[in-house]
Formats: sequence, C-alpha cells, structure tokens
Amino acid sequence: MTSQLTAYIDSARVGWFLRESSGGIRFVYDDDWRASAGRLELTLSMPKSRRQHDGEAPANFLWNLLPDNEAVLERWGARFGVSPRNPMSLLSHVGMDTAGAVQLSESDATDLPGEGALEAISDEDLAAHIRQLRKDPSDWLLPGHSQGAFSLAGAQSKFTLARIDGAWAVPTGRSASTHIFKPGIQGLEFGDLNEHLTMSAAAAAGLDVAESRILRVGGEHAIVVERYDRVTDQSGSVSRVHQEDLAQALGVHPALKYQAEGGPGVHGVMNAILGSRGRDSAKSASAFVDAVLFNWIALGTDAHAKNYSLIHDPRRGPRLAPLYDVTSALPYPAFNNRNARFAMSFDRRYKDFEIELRHVVRECARAGLGPDDVIDRLRSLIARVPDAFSSAKAESELDGDEAAFAGRLVNAAESRVNRLRREIRRWRGDDLDG
Ligand SMILES: Nc1ncnc2c1ncn2[C@@H]1O[C@H](COP(=O)(O)OP(=O)(O)O)[C@@H](O)[C@H]1O
Ligand SMILES: [Mg+2]
Repeated sequence: MTSQLTAYIDSARVGWFLRESSGGIRFVYDDDWRASAGRLELTLSMPKSRRQHDGEAPANFLWNLLPDNEAVLERWGARFGVSPRNPMSLLSHVGMDTAGAVQLSESDATDLPGEGALEAISDEDLAAHIRQLRKDPSDWLLPGHSQGAFSLAGAQSKFTLARIDGAWAVPTGRSASTHIFKPGIQGLEFGDLNEHLTMSAAAAAGLDVAESRILRVGGEHAIVVERYDRVTDQSGSVSRVHQEDLAQALGVHPALKYQAEGGPGVHGVMNAILGSRGRDSAKSASAFVDAVLFNWIALGTDAHAKNYSLIHDPRRGPRLAPLYDVTSALPYPAFNNRNARFAMSFDRRYKDFEIELRHVVRECARAGLGPDDVIDRLRSLIARVPDAFSSAKAESELDGDEAAFAGRLVNAAESRVNRLRREIRRWRGDDLDG
C-alpha cells in the first residue's frame, strides 16, 4: 500500500500526501514551495497559507484526478495489483500525467526525477485502440505502454496522446499528453460528433471553449480535444499549466459532482470563483454565467462541478478555464421531452420542462446578477446560437447519417431558441414574483 505520494508542479516538490494510521490522508506542503509559488495554489481546497491539511480535502483532491467510473478503477486496480479503493496506490501508477500540472510520484527528491519519452503510434494502432474502447469502454490505457499511463476524470472512454511534429505519440514517464480522445458513449448516437458540434457552436457564440475536431482514422472516429492545460513552445517542448476542477476547488468528492447529489450549484461555483480573488475573477464570473445560460439554451444538461475548471496563474491567481465536455441533449427526443435534467438547478428545478425564464433569472440573482443583465445576456446569446450551430455543422463538412444528425441538432436548436425568444419577449420584471 502506498503510504506516501509526493506532488510536483513544474518539477518542483509541492508537498506530500501521507496515509495516516487512521486510514485518512493528510497533505503537508513543502515550506520551500509555499514560499516560492506566488499566487499558484495546488487547490483552493487546501490553501498553502496552511502547511498541513487533514479531513476530507486531501483524499477528495486525489479522487478527483481519477476516473469517475468504477469499472475503470477496478481495472486499474487489477492491472497494477493495488486496491481500487485507494487513490494514493492508484495514482502511484497513473499520476504522472493528470489534469493540470500536478505530477504524483513515490519519489521524495526535491526535483521530480525520471525520464520521459514520446513513442510514435501508428494510425493502425490508434484506430485499433478506438475500436477496442467501443467494444470495452473501461479499457482506457493503451496496450504496451505501461509507462504511458495517464489519469483523467469523467466516466466516458478516453485516452490521451501528444501531438509532436504533426504526428501522434504516446507520452511515457514524465512527458505530457497534449490531446484527449473520446470515441463517444455507448447508446448515445453520434456522441463524439455532438460534443464537437456543441463545443464549436459555443465557441462561435462567443464563449471560450477548448478546440476540438473529429478525427477519422482507419474507419474509426473520435472527438479529439486540445488540452488547454498544455503549452507547446516553438522548439516543440510541452509544459503543463495548472488547473483544478470545481469539485477539487470546493473539496468535494467526485461522487457528489451533481448538485442533486450534494454538489455545488450555480451560486456555489460563482462563490468559489469570486472568493478565489483572482485578478480576473469578475471576467471569470461573467464567463461562467454565459456558460450556464448557453447550456440552458442548448440543453447542455451535463454541466456539473467537474465540467468547469479553474486555471491557476502564478501571478494573476485563479481564472475560469475554457469550457470542455459540452454536449447537447437536443438531438435525442427520448431525452429531451420530459427526461432532460440539468446538472445544476435553476431555482431548485432540475427538469428542463419545469424551468421557466423566471427560474433562470432567480438563480442568476442568487449568484449576484440583476434581471436586466440576465435578460441582456440571454438576448445576445439567443441571437447568436442558431447561426453558431449552423456554422459548426458547415465547418465540419459532414455527409450521410452524420450530416442528418447535425441537421437535427441545428433544427432542434433553432426551435428551442424560437420558444425562448417568445418567453423573453413576454418577459416583464414582475414575472419574478410568481
Ligand atoms: N481541453 C481540455 N484541456 C484540459 N483538460 C481537459 C480538457 N477537456 C477535459 N479536460 C479534463 O479531463 C477531464 C475529463 O474530460 P471530459 O471531457 O469531461 O470527460 P467525460 O466526458 O468523461 O466527463 C475533465 O474533467 C477535465 O479535468
Ligand atoms: Mg466531464
């Protein structure tokens, strides 16, 4: 059992996760790092102003770096011969490439030791892994590259690679991946295409969104998302940018990522952003509200605490990261009639069919926005959303079933916008009283 795991950022030792005899996990900062890190925080849930952190925050921080998918955890436990219930043991095998800049190692050196490498991967092997994930959605790690293990949150099948000199490679050891691949969810038609189109539409509507595209290789397809927590310089060397998701920032276990399960809602996230006192907090808060409103308009139901992140800037403090994992339930009639439920509530309502404009306005009021501001933002998003979906479709150059699916998404977005437009036209301030 792993009893100590050292956290590094940018090769510098940040501190130690320590297993206590009680079974709990403690985190202790390295004093040198506390003194030199500027405004950089490992996580808002364990501010470096305190040297030692006990309670749930250390374990929850680690759990949030791991998949929220039991089958994957079980599989990794079996593959590495460790308990799938022990986040330190799991991360001693997959903690060298995670979300953000943190790297976890059983070493205790002041500077992160060890090598990294990039192993070329052929198109055939890439296609074979995508195919394998469709057959066996928990088989995330590429075969034959045990040093290339990564960890990312989420339940969907995924893997990571690095893009170097126009070719794909498996990063091993301390090397960083630059892209996330997701073939889509079993049972959700065109899931990868939906995510790409919805993210592209959000970007076209003016939101800050991670870049994505649909990769087609060897008869397979997957959404490939560019990692904004990686920066490649002109010489081709990749560095990591630190980020954490909102479950980490609030010290919440991933099982509680949905508000209905006890996770944060719109005002909880808003408080975390404003409370972080980053120099760009006001801008981040505004971007977050636009994301919430976009998701309401586009029926992006899965925007829970782990689908928003904060980037930690050493000088400016935390700011909202670009959006990722944005998908629309609009093209799935079976979902979007009476079954669509949002991850965060609007005035205590989760079900789409129960949510009216006044509930959205009230929820935003709790997060500090006046009704006129909300209506203005909605008007401006609604004016852009239909064209944003159409241009996302046009730029994707689709044919056949894919074009038909994208057409369904565009049409559904247009009808929803027309309905919301009528609601806004009828809006009067006194609607809030009802
Ligand atoms: N473009 C990106 N850049 C950096 N990190 C990302 C990006 N997209 C996703 N992530 C990280 O990877 C995790 C899993 O990705 P996500 O797309 O949310 O998967 P899932 O659909 O399984 O929830 C996210 O919770 C986030 O921490
Ligand atoms: Mg996600």
